Amino acid sequence: MSTSNIILHSERLELSFGGIKALDSMSVEVEKGQILSLIGPNGAGKTCFINCVTGYYRPREGQIVFDGTDILGMRPHRIARLGISRTFQNPNTYPTMTALDILLAARYMHCRAGMMECLAPFGRSRREELQSRRSIEEVITFTHIEELRKKPISMMSYGQRKQVEIARALVMQPRLVLLDEPMSGLDDVMKEMVCELILDMHRQGMTIVLVEHDIQTVMELSHKVAVLDHGQKVAEGTPAEISRDARVASAYLGRNEADGQQAACP
Ligand SMILES: Nc1ncnc2c1ncn2[C@@H]1O[C@H](COP(=O)(O)OP(=O)(O)OP(=O)(O)O)[C@@H](O)[C@H]1O
Ligand SMILES: [Mg+2]
Repeated sequence: MSTSNIILHSERLELSFGGIKALDSMSVEVEKGQILSLIGPNGAGKTCFINCVTGYYRPREGQIVFDGTDILGMRPHRIARLGISRTFQNPNTYPTMTALDILLAARYMHCRAGMMECLAPFGRSRREELQSRRSIEEVITFTHIEELRKKPISMMSYGQRKQVEIARALVMQPRLVLLDEPMSGLDDVMKEMVCELILDMHRQGMTIVLVEHDIQTVMELSHKVAVLDHGQKVAEGTPAEISRDARVASAYLGRNEADGQQAACP
């Protein structure tokens, strides 16, 4: 266990696809309990960063340390067991699955009991199942999806699917959650709901990395903002600092840095 206040430390990550540098010497530190937002134009490397931290992509070079443990190269399920969870930008789920099915499946994937143990109505698998049921009910209440419990994904609104996707990420009681555009495509009411949920997660002590295009929301929620462009971190600071940073305007609008104009952020 690390005593440092930094829970996630990524150092000089390099990730390429053919000639495209998706991450280019990308370093970032996240403090325990912080909401850090990662912003930047389409194709900047935000999802690639989440994929690297959660083990879906393996950077060619660099280092990723979570709470004192080097996690670079670890498989996604091992990283998840350490307490890192994520949502997907475009979750891919069977349309007939209900919210409860999705949460049970997410929880089951992390159970330690083997197949034979699961067939027995006692012992470790029984204990794990009871614990799973309890955790799932807590998450359902926490994310306000009680009425979606038995509803198939295909019958849910887009916003409800996003809610379930966040709930899925919480069933393993993570310490660090990476949210990939949790508000994209939502109306103002649902956006407000998700904002409140993120703040509730923060109040519960979770550390959050938020990838989001809604700059106003980012500025309201974040303790720190890092700006990516072409795989490189071009700016980092508090929301107030970032909103004044000409490099941010440059990354988003292609303005000349020398203009020194106010960034597009409110
Ligand atoms: N599996 C892949 N194969 C090839 N190229 C990829 C792959 N994944 C990402 N890329 C490329 O890496 C770059 C960064 O992509 P990434 O998905 O991280 O962008 P992003 O910042 O999340 O963008 P958006 O805001 O549109 O979601 C892009 O040029 C993308 O096309
Ligand atoms: Mg993305």
